[in-house]
This record gives sequence, C-alpha cells and structure tokens, in this order.
Amino acid sequence: MKIRSVNAYQVYDSRGTPTVEAEIELEGGERGHGMVPSGASTGQFEALELRDADPSRFRGKSVFKAIANIYCEIAPALVGWDVRDQSGLDRKLIELDGTPTKSRLGANAILAVSMAAAATAALAQRRPLYDCLGQGRGTLLPLPEIQIVGGGAHAHWRTDVQDFLLVATGAKSFQEVMEITFNVHRAAGDLMAKRGTLYGVADEGGYWPEFSTNEAVLQFMTDAILYAGYTPGRDAAISLDIAASDLYDPQTQRYSFRLEDRSFTSAQFADLQIGWCERYPIVSIEDPMADTDWDGWSAIASALRHRIQLIGDDLFTTNLERIRTGIERNVANAVLIKLNQIGTVTETLAAIDMTQQAGWNPVVSARSGETEDGFISHLAVATNAGQLKVGSFVRGERMSKWNEVLRIERDLGPNARFIGSSILERIAKSGAQGPIELPLEP
Ligand code: PGA
Ligand code: ZN
Repeated sequence: MKIRSVNAYQVYDSRGTPTVEAEIELEGGERGHGMVPSGASTGQFEALELRDADPSRFRGKSVFKAIANIYCEIAPALVGWDVRDQSGLDRKLIELDGTPTKSRLGANAILAVSMAAAATAALAQRRPLYDCLGQGRGTLLPLPEIQIVGGGAHAHWRTDVQDFLLVATGAKSFQEVMEITFNVHRAAGDLMAKRGTLYGVADEGGYWPEFSTNEAVLQFMTDAILYAGYTPGRDAAISLDIAASDLYDPQTQRYSFRLEDRSFTSAQFADLQIGWCERYPIVSIEDPMADTDWDGWSAIASALRHRIQLIGDDLFTTNLERIRTGIERNVANAVLIKLNQIGTVTETLAAIDMTQQAGWNPVVSARSGETEDGFISHLAVATNAGQLKVGSFVRGERMSKWNEVLRIERDLGPNARFIGSSILERIAKSGAQGPIELPLEP
C-alpha cells in the first residue's frame, strides 16, 4: 500500500475562507482526502496555519504557499511510503517541518496530508475509518454538545460567552439525542421569534440573539428546554464554552463582559460561574478561565471539578506538554481535542490517550470554520472518546458530523454502545480525587 503521489489544492471552508485539501494516491489506485478546518477564537499555543498574507488575494487568506510546500517538500518525502504507517509518516512530517509550531510548512499543509493518509489507509484496507484509526477498539458513540446560541468571536460579541450548548442528558441512544436536540433547537427558535429577539446566525449555526446580559441566555436555554416539553437538568442540560482567553486582559488580569460593561478579577469571574452552576442546569464548562490564568483555573477547579465537567480548550490546545501540566496541576477534568491545534493524526491520538489515562474526558471538537469532512466523527468513535462537539443542529458542515455518527452506528450494528451522560457523572465523581500521577512518557 505504497504512496504513488500526494496532491493538494485550495478549497473553501464553511465561512468561504480558503483551506487546504490533500489527496493521496496509492500505487494500487486508491485515493483518499484530508481537508483542514480553521478556528476564529484560536488559542495562542496552537500549531500555526500558513496563510499567504497577500492582501491582493482572498484578503490575505489564500493557502498557496502551504500547497506549494506539499508539492515541493512533503510529496517527494512520502512517495513510496506505506500509507498504513501513520505514526512513521507523521513523524516524518514533523521532522521535515522542524519547528515546534509547524510554522515552516504550515500546520494546515501537514494536517491535510496526515488526515488524507489515514483516510487512504482505511480505504485501501476496505475498512471504515473509525475501525482503522481505533484498531478495531472503537465502539462508543459520542454524546453530543450542540450549540443553541453562539456568541463571542463567532457572532460579533453579541454575547460575551461564546457557546451556549445543549446536552441531551436524558437520551438513551444517539438517535434520541438527535430528537431531543431537534425539539429544543426548534423550541428556542420559536421562543426567539415570539420575543422578537432573533438577530442572526453565528458562525457555527447557532442563533445569534439580542440579550442584555450573558446570564439571560442561561434562563433562555432553560426556558427553551421547558418549552420543548422536557425537564431541565434531567432530559437536557446546558454546557458552556466561555472562551475566557478572549475576555481576559493579561495586563490588568481582569475579565470583561462588553455586553454588560462589567469587568471581574479572576476570583470574581470564578465566583460568577460557580453561582451560575447553582442556579442553572449546567453540566459542563469549557475554558472558564484564560489560557495563562493557571491560578484562576485551580480556583474554579477546586470548586467545580467534583460537580461538573471542566474542559480545557485554549488552555491545552491538544498539546501533550500542556495537557500533562494540566493533569499534574489538576486544573480540569476534560480536554477539548482539535486535530488542527496540534497538526497530525498521531499527536491527536496521543493527546486523547493521555487524557483517558488520567481518567479525564476527551471531547472531540470541530472548528468554527469547518469542512464537510466527517473525519472527527470517526475519530470520536475510534478512540471511545465519548463526546463530540461540532456546533449547531443546522448547516451541512455541522450536520455531516452527526449524520456520519448515525452511519457509524449502523455499521457497528449490535456492537455500538451509547452511555450518554454517565460519562459526565463519572468524571465529576473522579474529580473529587487529588492530583493524578502520570507515567513520564506518553
Ligand atoms: P474556534 O472555536 O474553532 O473558533 O476556535 C471553537 C471553540 O472555541 O471551541
Ligand atoms: Zn472552545
């Protein structure tokens, strides 16, 4: 299963922004593809995507240099390589680039090829991608976190909190998650139309509403669950992505809510969220604190880690060293997993593995600039990650991920497992323990 050629071209993500697609062709003629997403509220510790920065073309966003790097440097190094050797191939890509942030060849160039290799290997072995990636061990269908209201950098700061998400905690199957989500999503739309507060649609497809405070959205989410005929906290609950790095000023060490013209010290910001958890059915918070505010993370973790899921996204950026530090300092109990934050499939699998070894939850995630590629649905099942976050319950680039899970469910047949929200309860219980010792090498 040797690689005959590696090709690449510019395609467009869900925001219509250029991105890289790579195609790998094997000597036997099989061809697989990999397409790279892109964030808007990116973390400062992420691998770097290479953009041309030529203002006369695509407002500087074209990716022709990354594509040239695939043709000129990556392809010659990979021709003849056995595509099944994903870890060797990824190591080669990392070596070729030679920088810690993959900035020379571009994390977008590297990841497109890495994903294309995984897809092609599965195709050539006539195995579904989840089965191949997970070496036959993946059987767990993920519990989705689905955006109802989008804010922050994805909706011109209409709200400061970036994501107000729904978790169908009462669902007994993945299909029931889809039904509960459909009902609450539609109920939320009806309620906004009734109240005249709908403003538009955010980057990940969530409603972009008119609210006067961030907390008002929590009440609205609770109302929408009730309006759809469900019991908040039992059938469906709230998950938040505060994306707090975007609200933090490292100079003043304060967090700001522009909508409410308020600012908070780190301790006040933690208290605010602890109060929300007492008043609303919140089961998970992502990035409650900024990616440099480790003390803030420690403070909120000691108050909430034993009650809810606390996910680090910008804090960890799917980076093994940062995840290791977080586990040692016990500042969270879950890690958001984004392929393009780190840049290769192998490193992403290692990040998931380290997270699971610590007894924490990996949450596989899309980006705000997404593609129609269903790779992450396969990644979530392959690794038994247990959770998947891809944005809202509308728009093709989001629905393609949920639909892919439904296809995987059919493919797994009686082997498919769904444990729903017990994955959240398990983590909250384990959070009561002290710091976890990790083996030195992943
Ligand atoms: P991003 O947002 O893709 O714009 O970074 C998603 C998230 O913060 O989880
Ligand atoms: Zn996030």
